[in-house]
Amino acid sequence: MAKKALVTGAKGGIGSSITDGLVAAGFRVIATYFPTNEACAKEWFKANNYSDEQVRLLPLDVTDAAYCEEALATLLQEEGNIDVLVNNAGITRDTTFKRMTAQQWNDVINTNLNSLFNVTQPLFASMCEHGNARIINITSVNGLKGQFGQANYSAAKAGMIGFTKALAAEGARSGVTVNAIAPGYTGTPMVEAIREEVLDGIKAEIPMKRLAKPEEIASAVTFLASEQAAYITGETLNVNGGLYMH
Ligand code: NAI
Repeated sequence: MAKKALVTGAKGGIGSSITDGLVAAGFRVIATYFPTNEACAKEWFKANNYSDEQVRLLPLDVTDAAYCEEALATLLQEEGNIDVLVNNAGITRDTTFKRMTAQQWNDVINTNLNSLFNVTQPLFASMCEHGNARIINITSVNGLKGQFGQANYSAAKAGMIGFTKALAAEGARSGVTVNAIAPGYTGTPMVEAIREEVLDGIKAEIPMKRLAKPEEIASAVTFLASEQAAYITGETLNVNGGLYMH
């Protein structure tokens, strides 16, 4: 039977490449999407010619703890077990800290950081029970180095790294590895929304002088999800073209 992976924000720029990579590696992917994006998710499923065995769509607002708890308990009953969890859903609400509203702060912390509790907690005990499982958290270069105008996002993404290390310690004896991937600037709608002259400035600072391709983030996920990565845990894998080395 195919191993099962759950990917949050699976219809996004990086999420859809992660889904493709895991499907190509033979996983059955539970592709979760923000509930109001149902039509879009169905279109994406069709456009990619996924079969029902390869991909199962599941609405999941990662900020809604009660909903996640119920939906994921039902999912475990239906699917038996989840072998790989990719916490990928995320948002930005960039502005300088002087101008930042509580709403902008809370939206980013809820979506990028509190989501780790909401989605991982209902699955973790079952993953430990079955053993040999993987949790992969998509953080960011800006959670490592800090970024002007992203106090909310940098705080959330740095928090994801602390969570990764703590949960790695808890999962290790059951063979559940917990790692983070820290992408640099990646060619997705999140980054393509940045003004062209600002984006040119960002590219100039990247030693490789280009954005990451979503597939390059996805291949790091597929590697960490594989048997070959069984002894890697608590690690943050940088995929940033040399933008930040530490
Ligand atoms: P995207 O905007 O294309 O995708 C984000 C996905 O998260 C979307 O499918 C969106 O619907 C989903 N999402 C947002 N709020 C949600 C919620 N409450 N519940 C469920 N789903 C929700 O962005 P992208 O670029 O694909 O980002 C994916 C991850 O990679 C994010 O965590 C982002 O912070 C991270 N990242 C992205 C970088 C980039 O340059 N694009 C760089 C570093 C990290």
